[in-house]
Amino acid sequence: AESDAPVPERLADPATTARIEQRVAAGAEGFRNTPDTDPDLPGNRAWGRSIAERMIDSDLGSATVAAARITDAGALDAAVERGRAASSGWQTLGADERARILHRAGEALEARRGELLEVMGAECGKTLDQGDPEVSEAIDFAHYYAALGQDLEHVDGARFVPQRLVAVIPPWNFPVAIPAGGVLAALASGASVIIKPAAQSARSGAVMVEALWEAGVPRDVLQLLQFGDRELASSFVSDPRVDRLILTGAYETAETFRALREDLPILAETSGKNAIIVTPNADLDLAARDVAQSAFGHAGQKCSAASLVVLVGSVARSQRFRGQLLDAVRSLKVGTPNALTSQMGPLIGAPTGKLLRGLTELEPGQRWAIEPKPILSDHPLAVDRHGDAKLWSPGVRDGVQRGSEYHLTEYFGPILGIMTAETLEEAIDIVNDIEYGLTSGLHSLDRDELEHWLARIEAGNLYVNRGITGAIVRRQPFGGWKKSAIGAGTKAGGPSYLYGLGDWVDAASTA
Ligand code: SER
Repeated sequence: AESDAPVPERLADPATTARIEQRVAAGAEGFRNTPDTDPDLPGNRAWGRSIAERMIDSDLGSATVAAARITDAGALDAAVERGRAASSGWQTLGADERARILHRAGEALEARRGELLEVMGAECGKTLDQGDPEVSEAIDFAHYYAALGQDLEHVDGARFVPQRLVAVIPPWNFPVAIPAGGVLAALASGASVIIKPAAQSARSGAVMVEALWEAGVPRDVLQLLQFGDRELASSFVSDPRVDRLILTGAYETAETFRALREDLPILAETSGKNAIIVTPNADLDLAARDVAQSAFGHAGQKCSAASLVVLVGSVARSQRFRGQLLDAVRSLKVGTPNALTSQMGPLIGAPTGKLLRGLTELEPGQRWAIEPKPILSDHPLAVDRHGDAKLWSPGVRDGVQRGSEYHLTEYFGPILGIMTAETLEEAIDIVNDIEYGLTSGLHSLDRDELEHWLARIEAGNLYVNRGITGAIVRRQPFGGWKKSAIGAGTKAGGPSYLYGLGDWVDAASTA
């Protein structure tokens, strides 16, 4: 039975809700990795009702946290040594056998889909429509890197020499797919891995790791650690026996890690402040839907989220597109993650500091097109332990000025700003003003506009006539440039990520 707590029935579009519910009831299958084939479904793979029911009944108190808690330097030293020593056996096993295990890991993740959704919902507020494609992405990482690891041995003229120990430090907002991407690439490269999941999403990380152990990855080759204090975490990253660091988090966090050990090769994906440009040549219906979904999926808590939409020329001057966009935003169903139809769940915590200012304070020249509101509910996932709202309705501010704080700052929450430009050229300049460059979108059916935008826009992942979140393994390797990356050029879900995890030597060399 669904929880008795009042889940707000806000802003629901009954037609969309009915379609999704039909799908859920039918337990429809087969949408993996084709997010654009069914515009009515917010996720890219349907789910079965049994998963949702399990999630509703979930008692996280019983979830296993299999992480070893490191509380002193001796234990850390032993873990690092164990990992390095285990890499020899993992490498001797050979790429084909490793690939077999990693393909099995993909199957083990599939088998635990329900459990993963349950834990992600409860820990991070992931709604089913967001969590389900996330599990699919983790599975895709397993099969993709398994296959690519085998190809490593067949690169003409060059030989790949794996590292012994890779550290993976993922964020809480994609608590399964991001850690899985780093871990699986590193394992496919032949290295051992130590993963330290974010404290907020430790259980999600643990369930993912347990699936890999179950598939046959030895426990010394893949170790799951939590640190008793910050100092130990710092000594882990500073340890010269760690060969590579795969990190996803805020730019400032990545800089702190980089400062700890300048010679450590880091593959880091950091912050974003991403925009979608809509020109008069766009399919405006499609653009409205894509902007709303990109801005408010996972309540905007994605480095890839759209935080700005830049309207060009007649789209900026008329109210037509604004009306469509605001309708699309109002139709998003806000609710707790265990309500089947929620499209926007709670924040990881009640907003404070910068995010709270972003959700409450307007800057000069701005006005709320839709004012974000805290939604008070008795549901434990909707409030933090002080009773402050984690569940917020989406906000849209119009009249964002070029050079203003909202234009240039990442907020990581459910707010979208509208900016305007006379020409596409000016819109591109507005986007390129931003010091980050992670994802960027263009809605236009005009080829010249597309080519001009492609030539000038400064971002790692570019999307045309589609939303700007939800990169797909292999098809859209994910990573940024400018201040959105450290070690730019390495993209999760693409070959460079794996290639960067070892050294390349001349094939003839025996070194
Ligand atoms: N890969 C995610 C996306 O594309 C973000 O980490 O949305």
